[in-house]
Amino acid sequence: MKVGEQTINKQTSFKKQRDYRSLAWRKRTQLVGVFGCPIGHTASPLMHNAAFLHLNLNYLYLAFEIKPEYLESAVKSVIALNFKGVNVTIPYKTEVIKYLDEVTPEAELVGSVNTIVVEGKKLVGYTTDGRGFLTSLINDAYENPQGKKILILGAGGAARALTMTLAQEGIKELIIANRTEEKAEALVSKLKNLKKLSPYQKIKAISLKEETLSRAILETDILINATSVGMKEEDPLLIKQEWLHPDLLVCDLIYNPPQTSLLKLAQEQGAKTLNGLGMLLYQGALSFELWTGIKAPLEVMREALYDKNE
Ligand code: ATR
Repeated sequence: MKVGEQTINKQTSFKKQRDYRSLAWRKRTQLVGVFGCPIGHTASPLMHNAAFLHLNLNYLYLAFEIKPEYLESAVKSVIALNFKGVNVTIPYKTEVIKYLDEVTPEAELVGSVNTIVVEGKKLVGYTTDGRGFLTSLINDAYENPQGKKILILGAGGAARALTMTLAQEGIKELIIANRTEEKAEALVSKLKNLKKLSPYQKIKAISLKEETLSRAILETDILINATSVGMKEEDPLLIKQEWLHPDLLVCDLIYNPPQTSLLKLAQEQGAKTLNGLGMLLYQGALSFELWTGIKAPLEVMREALYDKNE
């Protein structure tokens, strides 16, 4: 980067900081935010506040680190403090449901909520993760899941949201591999009850054991990491490099770091890769639209996210 460019970038970021400050001092600002623990990694405030500024909307998005014992009171405060709504992230997407007045049929099916909207005096839970991932798969990786064999690592909230969406998109096979096998099996049973499923679509659970997993990956078109493994540098690898092949698309829902160890291995093995930034963008755009009723400025939000991750 040239010195001149650096100066311009610095000036832009100072200007942005000034803008955020002036936004915080406005009167009757509509509040939104995200509840999670830990929350230091989140890029959502950057993306949403950039969108609010761009559209000159008097909204502010804040990140809250909520300790488990305070989740209930934090959720109740959403109405008390007159928020428009909040996002919910790790590890509360499932637990939060018991504190809501209503959830959409989709969120109920998935058993996960990533967006709360205040509707009158009610807290209503939505899930936008599955549609966010699907849009990123199509728009960013140019991949249509129809007719594909998909292997997903994980059976937590994120995995549930994705598998419910993908299973209804005409995929050929869905394999769920999870450390706690009973959780993968429970998810498979739930997916098999979906009305939209045809008898020709195969869905099964497997373990993370080397032999089983490596064999399954050989036959896979799209491999998705929906576990939290890879967020920390010292995390173990669930996959060995030699199990991967060039015909694979390897997706990691993690966006911080933008290139996880898994994605590095996949690239070295000649596979296509997709990180979690696209999913973050599209799920966030859907949340934005639920809170504001206004179409999200996708390009502004994308620029804010990718700026941070350059
Ligand atoms: P999220 O809402 O992001 O999906 P979650 O519901 O807590 O978060 O799910 C985390 C997922 O990562 C789970 O599938 C978890 O496996 P278990 O069901 O066995 O707990 C998986 N996971 C977390 N740490 C892991 C590790 N060290 N090895 C393997 N899987 C791990």
